[in-house]
Amino acid sequence: MRTASLDTAAIDRANSAFWDELCGTAFARSLGVTDDSAASLARYDRWYFDFYPYLDRHIRFAELAGKRVLEVGLGYGSVSQRLAESGAVYSGLDVAAGPVAMARHRLALCGRSGDVRQGSILRAPFDDAGFDAVIAIGCYHHTGDIARALRETHRLLVPGGRAVVMVYNAFSYRRWLRAPAATLRHALRPAAAGPAPERERARYDTNSAGEPAPVTEFVSIAELRRLARPFAEFACVRENAAVPLGPRGWWLATLGRIAGLDLYASLRK
Ligand SMILES: C[S@@+](CC[C@H](N)C(=O)[O-])C[C@H]1O[C@@H](n2cnc3c(N)ncnc32)[C@H](O)[C@@H]1O
Repeated sequence: MRTASLDTAAIDRANSAFWDELCGTAFARSLGVTDDSAASLARYDRWYFDFYPYLDRHIRFAELAGKRVLEVGLGYGSVSQRLAESGAVYSGLDVAAGPVAMARHRLALCGRSGDVRQGSILRAPFDDAGFDAVIAIGCYHHTGDIARALRETHRLLVPGGRAVVMVYNAFSYRRWLRAPAATLRHALRPAAAGPAPERERARYDTNSAGEPAPVTEFVSIAELRRLARPFAEFACVRENAAVPLGPRGWWLATLGRIAGLDLYASLRK
């Protein structure tokens, strides 16, 4: 992976502007959710946790009760609220103002306290070793420097602390089908693989104007293992499939596990 030369301060600024519109806004609208009342957010969250049923296997909400948990990359705040409601001592970090405001709003709605800050995981505004767990779903592949995001995650954790990190799979079925040349190049020369071009980024995350996220990278399990070298333990599985035919649960249990769109890494410091 070749990301070290990117101007990460400029990427943070671009991400801060792009992600101010909450990711998930299009899905929310398709559900008729256009306001931030408790009932509307609950409708969105039901959809979110039904759509990603494997999240409960990766984020052990009940086990995080009483633990100091930092969530990085907050989006619509479904995971934020669930962590807080599960009894975690909640902190949140997002580079954009919109998700920070949404997470604070959700904490107020459910009567929980928490420390939600605007900032980048590439220079996280928290002290060393202040967290028992870090949860980062769908964030680090947008930062322009996954290695640095993982080093910061390591710094923030107490010894023995755990992180759950979801990033996009370089060798998913979708990449082999839709971007075979880039995927083959990535397989042959992983060190030369840079951020995805606009056409490919647009298949993953877009805002309501149809613009793609400023930066999207794809990683293999082997690369992620190498980037996560500071951690004492590393385990990783594939998840997620978006096939517009037949029952989603079947695709998740088959294609998703073999060549899924996302990698879920479980790390221990
Ligand atoms: C695709 S959304 C995922 C949101 C949420 N975790 C979910 O599952 O829906 C990515 C989130 O990461 C945030 N983000 C992007 N770069 C970041 C950075 N360098 N530091 C912290 N947050 C960042 C974005 O603002 C956005 O809220």
